[in-house]
Amino acid sequence: MNAAIEQKIADYKQKYLGRLVGTDIPEKLNRQLEEMDWSNLDKIRGNELKRGSFAPLGAMEIPEIESRKEEFRETGIQAIRDRKVGAILLAGGQGTRLGFDKAKGMFNIGVGKELYIFEQLVENLKQVTDAAGAWVPLYVMTSEKNDEQTRAFFTEHDFFGYNRDYVKFFVQEMVPAVDFSGNVLMEAEDSLAMSPNGNGGWFKSLLRAGLKQDLAEKGIEWLNVFAVDNVLQRIADPVFVGATIQSGCVSGAKVVRKADPYERVGALCLEDGRPSIVEYYDLTPEMAEATDEKGTLLYGFGVILNYLFRVDTLMEIAESKLPLHIVEKKVPYLDENGVFIKPSEPNAYKFETLILDMIYMMDNCLSFEVDREREFAPVKNAAGVDSVESARELLQKNGVALS
Ligand code: UTP
Repeated sequence: MNAAIEQKIADYKQKYLGRLVGTDIPEKLNRQLEEMDWSNLDKIRGNELKRGSFAPLGAMEIPEIESRKEEFRETGIQAIRDRKVGAILLAGGQGTRLGFDKAKGMFNIGVGKELYIFEQLVENLKQVTDAAGAWVPLYVMTSEKNDEQTRAFFTEHDFFGYNRDYVKFFVQEMVPAVDFSGNVLMEAEDSLAMSPNGNGGWFKSLLRAGLKQDLAEKGIEWLNVFAVDNVLQRIADPVFVGATIQSGCVSGAKVVRKADPYERVGALCLEDGRPSIVEYYDLTPEMAEATDEKGTLLYGFGVILNYLFRVDTLMEIAESKLPLHIVEKKVPYLDENGVFIKPSEPNAYKFETLILDMIYMMDNCLSFEVDREREFAPVKNAAGVDSVESARELLQKNGVALS
C-alpha cells in the first residue's frame, strides 16, 4: 500500500482499513482507495443542506393540457421524427427496499405470465415510437453492480422488440460507504463496499462514457430522464415534449397532484426564484396546507422522476457540483478481523447526488400535471405502499394484462 494512502488511513483513524497498513493490497482495492474522495468523510456531520426561501410554482394543469393536447402532441411527434428527443433510463439503483438481488428492471411484475419491468417500460416507449414512426434513442444507465446482467438481459430478450441499434448502456460511478462513525467499509478482501453514487451524476456519467458524440451525431436536443421503477411511466410522451418546447422552458417535470398535503413526495416549487423541489420534510405545516383561491394546494404537485432537459443547458451545467446527500442503508462489510457481517438494520452512510437537485440549476421548468392513476405506479417496496401489489393493480386498471 502506498504511503499517501497509509497516511489517510491514519489521519482518518480508519477502523476497518487499519489491518491492511504495511501489507500488499490487491490492485482493485488500491485503485478504489486512490480514487476515493476522502473529503466526503468530513461531511458526515454538519452536512445539513441550506435551503433558500420557497415560493409556489403553478403547474400546467390537466384541463389546460387536455384543451391543447393535439397541438402539443403534433409538436412533440415532430420533434421525435426529427430525432431531437432521446430517453434516459435510470437503472443504476440497488433497489434495496424491494429486496430483489438483481437489477430492478429484471423483476417479473407479471402474475400468470412473465412481464419484466424493463419489458413494460419498453412497451410504453414503443407506443410512442409506433405512433411517431421513428425510434427514440434509449440510453440505459446501469451501475458496476448490475451492468453485465442488465446488458445480458436485454440481449437475451431481444431488446423486448426495440431496435437494438438505438439502445446504449453506460455505467454510473461508485463511491465507498462508511459506518456511522466515518469508517470506510470493505465488502471483500479486494474491495471497499462500493455503492452507486446516486442518480444525480447521470449526465456526467453519460459524458464520461463518451456519449456526447452520439448525442451530437444524432442531433438530440432534448433528453427525457425517467426512473426504472414506475411501470406506468410514459416515456418521450409527445404531449409533454410538445408542451415543454412550446413553453420556451429549458426543462419540464411531470408532476401529480398530491394525495394529501403531507404525502411523502417532493413538490415542485421555486427556491430563491429558481425552480426547485422541496422535500416533504422541509415543508412547514403552513406551507403544506396553503391553498390558492380555487382550493388547490400551493405545494401540491409532487414530482415522479420524469424530467425533460434541453441538452445545451445540460452541457452548460455539466461541471457544476450538486449537493451531497447522505443516506442510511444496510451495507454488508468485513469487520476489523475480516469477518463478513450482514447487518439486519441500517449500519452505514452512502453518499449520493440526486437528479432532483438538477432542477435548481435550470433557469425555468414547466410543471406538467399528469393523472397519477394513469402514469404513476412505482415499485419501491415488496408490499404495501408503492409496492409490487399496488403497481400490479394499477397496471391492470390501465388495461395491461398480467396473466
Ligand atoms: P431510488 O431513489 O428509488 O433508489 O431510485 P434505489 O436505489 O433504486 O432503491 P432503494 O432506495 O435502495 O430501495 C430512483 C431511480 O433512480 C435510479 C434508480 O434505479 C431508480 O430508477 N438510481 C438510483 C440510479 O440510477 N442510480 C443510483 O445511484 C440511485
